[in-house]
Amino acid sequence: MPRKVNYGPDYDDNYDEYDYGYEVDENAETPPQKETIKHSVWRCSICTYDNDETMSSCDICGVLHGPLLNNSIYDKKRTANIFDLKSSRVSSTVVGRDEAVKVSSMRSDSSNQSTEKGKHNRLDEINILKNIEVGPPAGSRTSDNCSASVQEGWLGHVDESSVAVNLRSRGKSSLSLMPKERNVMVDDSSSSRNGGEANSLTSNLENISFAAKSRHSNDAKPGRAISRAQYKPEKWMLPEKAEHSLTQLNLAIVGHVDSGKSTLSGRLLHLLGRISQKEMHKYEKEAKLQGKGSFAYAWALDESAEERERGITMTVAVAYFDSKRYHVVVLDSPGHKDFVPNMITGATQADASILVIDASIGSFEAGMDGTKGQTREHAQLIRSFGIDQLIVAVNKMDAVDYSKERFDLIISQLGAFLRSCGFKDSSVSWIPLSAVENQNLVSAPSDFRLSWYLGPNLLDAIDSFQPPTREFSKPLIMPICDVIKSPSQGQVSACGKLEAGAVRSGSKLLILVLVMPSATIATVRSLERDSQACPIGRAGDNIAVSLNGIDGNHVMAGGVLCHPDFPIAFAKHLELKVLVLDGATPILIGSQLEFHIHHAKEAARVARISFLLDSKTGKVVKKAPRCILAKQSAVVEVILQEAVCVEEFSKCKVLGRVFLRTLGRTVAVGIVTRIVEEQQ
Ligand code: GTP
Ligand code: MG
Repeated sequence: MPRKVNYGPDYDDNYDEYDYGYEVDENAETPPQKETIKHSVWRCSICTYDNDETMSSCDICGVLHGPLLNNSIYDKKRTANIFDLKSSRVSSTVVGRDEAVKVSSMRSDSSNQSTEKGKHNRLDEINILKNIEVGPPAGSRTSDNCSASVQEGWLGHVDESSVAVNLRSRGKSSLSLMPKERNVMVDDSSSSRNGGEANSLTSNLENISFAAKSRHSNDAKPGRAISRAQYKPEKWMLPEKAEHSLTQLNLAIVGHVDSGKSTLSGRLLHLLGRISQKEMHKYEKEAKLQGKGSFAYAWALDESAEERERGITMTVAVAYFDSKRYHVVVLDSPGHKDFVPNMITGATQADASILVIDASIGSFEAGMDGTKGQTREHAQLIRSFGIDQLIVAVNKMDAVDYSKERFDLIISQLGAFLRSCGFKDSSVSWIPLSAVENQNLVSAPSDFRLSWYLGPNLLDAIDSFQPPTREFSKPLIMPICDVIKSPSQGQVSACGKLEAGAVRSGSKLLILVLVMPSATIATVRSLERDSQACPIGRAGDNIAVSLNGIDGNHVMAGGVLCHPDFPIAFAKHLELKVLVLDGATPILIGSQLEFHIHHAKEAARVARISFLLDSKTGKVVKKAPRCILAKQSAVVEVILQEAVCVEEFSKCKVLGRVFLRTLGRTVAVGIVTRIVEEQQ
């Protein structure tokens, strides 16, 4: 099958060999910007193409001929829309059952979650200190020399040998634990004796907080914080060799609306015993009563009244099952275009993905439609998050009589597209199945019409995924995807996927974490994984961390829990390398866009387009272009309306992957190459 060589970044094996340095030939003369325009043509003010005077818009980039007034009105409207989003909560609910939990992808509401950057909760800290015996001084840590240098890859590329999975997924995860010196033994009997030491811990905490603040507020030059590579993990952070527990695999179920993602997930859960027969009967009965009998399995995941009434998934549902090799965390994403931001929340936590395709005539084609379909957008997004292991579940094969021809056609059309996104053929499995008729899900197909298929069933294909790589021995990083508050009990829990490091809780331990962007220290009260209390969360785990000693308003979705000695940056002026997606509108200087990074979303303005890059080699091909067209790559500077928690991609992939959206479509994916100015 042909490969679209000209599409986007090349993710092939030589990927890291590309030179993405800014090799501008300083001696090369920038061509003078000739403003003279021939009589019979008008020159596009954006891309400088000379258009025939009969053209009312630019033939190349589509910009209207001289509609300045209209453009500005348009921009204002668009800006308003984007800013409206800022305070809206795209909430994802959560579950009442053990098996299914709704993840929320909320943008913090600035009105009630003011962060008061840089302040800490002194009173809370002091409260925490009661009855605490001081631990060893913070300076007792040793550092290793291991180099954590991460080759700066191109958009979406994951260096499998180093970090792989960790960077891309976020979500519910564990919390990290402080280094040994921060662990303080509680000894009630001696608490009264230790006033001096408690004081000293107070000042220790102050130092931590101040250190965090000062690092946080200082410039973004290297050395801002202790290098993460110098961190030396403690023994408990590493999984015990003797542990027989299954490896956790976070699996995003994505695909065009109505392709059968929830039905497939529900059916799998039922077949694997996670949904009882009794529960299934209940779903069937209720769904039938509402005239939605075909959605019975989907109801296991689509729990809200609105989702059930509309027959669509709106927020990501989380469910669990065990395969032979993995403890699988199912992240059932919405396929409707209005909920792409929620889909992103789930997919960014994933280690691998199932792209569900509706094989029915016309439906596969609708999903592949460049402007209305979500198949392409979802595939591009998951690849840009670093997911490189994919199962394509060609669902609803019953609707096409289990036709091999239809299956092959889908492979040939979608396969070429997936290759152009950077998926390797060897990392993509194609499984024909029917969720409704239970064909090829957990056992070989029984329908003779599928007898031509000799490959693995879906469950076996899931077991064939390579285990994800985890950053167990790095300092804690947990992007917060959801916050659960219990005002009556004065408790707040941060939920997310532990991307790096580990965290633990214990009655005799004082575990401190730094909550960004409020730069506030909190203590870990308890941990929960799969709705069960757990003593330790490690990289890769989706967990809820119950925090003490912090005002709930200082914990927000889009924030990050990190190690107090390794605070992450907080900035609004960033340099990015971006790739504008196929079919997307051009990005111009001054474009107003939605900026998405881990679980944060912010309005952004393109302040500068520094260079146009060769999409294949990454070399600079033009300085200071005026716009970036579809399929072009460029280095840009963006200024966000509010600062976000961020790191350069070369230092932390998960906090350095971004994507830009406008008018309900993803227009570009990218990475953070430089923090131009960190927030004070
Ligand atoms: P969104 O989450 O809204 O994007 O939809 P979805 O992809 O989760 O689809 P859902 O599971 O809600 O199913 C949509 C419709 O497709 C329902 O009517 C299902 O019964 C139907 N469906 C799902 N799987 C199959 C299948 O294997 N065969 C047939 N014929 N219909 C199916
Ligand atoms: Mg669904």
